[in-house]
Amino acid sequence: MSPVSLDDYAERARAVLPPAVWDYVAGGSAAEVTLRANRSALDRVAVLPRVLRGVSTANLGTRLLGRPYAMPVGVAPMAYQRLVHPNGELALAAAAGAAGVPYLASTLASTPIEQVAATGAEVWFQLYWLRERALVRDLLDRVVAAGCRALVVTVDVPVLGRRPRDLRNAFRLPVEVIAANLPGGRDALAHAGAPGLSATDASFAPALGWADLAWLREHVDLPLVVKGVLDPRDAVEAVRTGADAVVVSNHGGRQLDGAPASVTMLPEVVDAVGDRCQVLLDSGIRGGTDVLRALALGAAGVLVGRPLLWALAVGGEPAARDALALLAVELRDALTLAGCPDPAAAGELRTVAVS
Ligand code: FNR
Ligand code: LAC
Repeated sequence: MSPVSLDDYAERARAVLPPAVWDYVAGGSAAEVTLRANRSALDRVAVLPRVLRGVSTANLGTRLLGRPYAMPVGVAPMAYQRLVHPNGELALAAAAGAAGVPYLASTLASTPIEQVAATGAEVWFQLYWLRERALVRDLLDRVVAAGCRALVVTVDVPVLGRRPRDLRNAFRLPVEVIAANLPGGRDALAHAGAPGLSATDASFAPALGWADLAWLREHVDLPLVVKGVLDPRDAVEAVRTGADAVVVSNHGGRQLDGAPASVTMLPEVVDAVGDRCQVLLDSGIRGGTDVLRALALGAAGVLVGRPLLWALAVGGEPAARDALALLAVELRDALTLAGCPDPAAAGELRTVAVS
């Protein structure tokens, strides 16, 4: 039977993936408290539906960063997608393109950004700041030349979170999976005896500050998104520095364990930035009702991570397309049942915190 919820893809992916790869994708940091909180906090957001609004079927179209998309959903940036399927980034980006949603390409992609952009998807490039500014400049030049639509700076990885599952599994990237955007991506990762993701810590600049973001704002003429804020004060600072959007995110529970669920912080962040920038949410989104929850709490849209990797693992581009189509069906259903003609109307819904 074909999957009827995104969780069905997880179950199937688990059956086909090597256990250590499953763990790398599914896992979180430390005791995985934040990973679990992302789900439980979303489940505690109850949305009050409106009735008799004459809505028979909702439209999903929306604008993110000033551009039209088929629904208020983007593919979260995720490293090394060839770990789960040989076509990796090319397949997931093509699926996003077919679904009319943005594909966020990771700095740590296992396929070069030029090839990802050539799929025709709307690509937003996710930047991990490298130690050498010259390398950052080179990468940014490539990103602009490739036609990427936005620059997403991830700010919650000064170092990679400690992930017990990966440590127990002594997780290593297979030799064929490289950081294809980085010079020497292969050498850095194949280095004998290096821990699986050591290139991450070795290549990243750990001590970034707001001045670096300001530098970026000045040097790159693309919409700027700051991903990985939870404290409303940081969101305000991002706006001051010229961000066009922030992503309220705890990196899917993979960075600071004990941080709150991102949906818990969403209302305060929305309140703090007002209409000065768009607010996106990720971490734990698993279906249309979760998207509705985020919209009702003031998000302009969401990013979805793991479920799309599971779909990619299960059946490459066709399965990833199906997963995005399923999410669209669920969201249309949720909006219609809540009496909303479109995503913007969901921003007027009331929510109740339930225990
Ligand atoms: C990620 N995430 C991530 N974020 C980022 O900015 N750059 C990256 O390279 C990665 N890599 C990555 C790999 C894998 C395997 C996962 C699962 C996640 C975090 C990602 O963008 C997003 O914030 C979370 O995955 C969202 O949570 P859900 O939807 O997976 O629960
Ligand atoms: C991760 C990094 C690479 O979460 O963002 O695994």
